[in-house]
Amino acid sequence: MTITFSMDGKEISVEQGLTLLDAARENGTDIPTICFHEATTSNALCRICVVEVEGMRLLQPACIVQAAEGMKVQTRSERVVRARKTILEMLASTLDLSDAPEILTLMDQYGAKADRFPEAERRESAVKDDNPMYIRDYSKCLLCWRCVQVCADDAQYTFAINFEGRGYETQIGTFFDHAIPETTCVLCGQCVGVCPTGALKPKREYLLEQGLSPQEISVMNTGRKRRSKVTGQKSE
Ligand code: SF4
Ligand code: FES
Repeated sequence: MTITFSMDGKEISVEQGLTLLDAARENGTDIPTICFHEATTSNALCRICVVEVEGMRLLQPACIVQAAEGMKVQTRSERVVRARKTILEMLASTLDLSDAPEILTLMDQYGAKADRFPEAERRESAVKDDNPMYIRDYSKCLLCWRCVQVCADDAQYTFAINFEGRGYETQIGTFFDHAIPETTCVLCGQCVGVCPTGALKPKREYLLEQGLSPQEISVMNTGRKRRSKVTGQKSE
């Protein structure tokens, strides 16, 4: 069954059950997303995809709200643009977005200022380098939940990571903060693949950025090199 509604003043018809985001994409309308990923269940955590729906007091996240017959939706009203710009400015004020090119592009598009909230407390976290496959740098994590979901019942069913802590202290972690090799993690790399900010990064890429040569990394991987140039500690 199809339904008809208005998006940015244009009448469109889509299959019933589509979200506003799906409907927009089907009709060539761009709505930005951050926490949304085709492979994971949407939880509407970042709110960058908000749109204005006539008759609804609050802006609505397009990635979870279904299109309905007769709806009147504005995807780029002044209020929507202001909300998205503010969200981007809050992210930039609290996180290291240097490895998040898509978000940096959005900041340019929305004229968002990275220094709008100079008093904001930044999320600082030491890089967790505890396994041979990937590093975790939670100072870049925006809590989109994609990694948790692919690790859980959206894909891998290993449940090695989850949210921990409350309020501003909330972050992604392992149960009891165990090192990755002591968890159920099977090093499948799916979490790394869906991370939008570089908070999860392949170990090799990280070591190259740290200045190690491919040869040095190979030596480390085969266990012949005893001393890591990154940590200055014995590696085995
Ligand atoms: S580590 Fe990456 S994928 Fe996981 S919640 Fe943080 S930003 Fe999202
Ligand atoms: S993309 Fe919709 S809330 Fe994040």
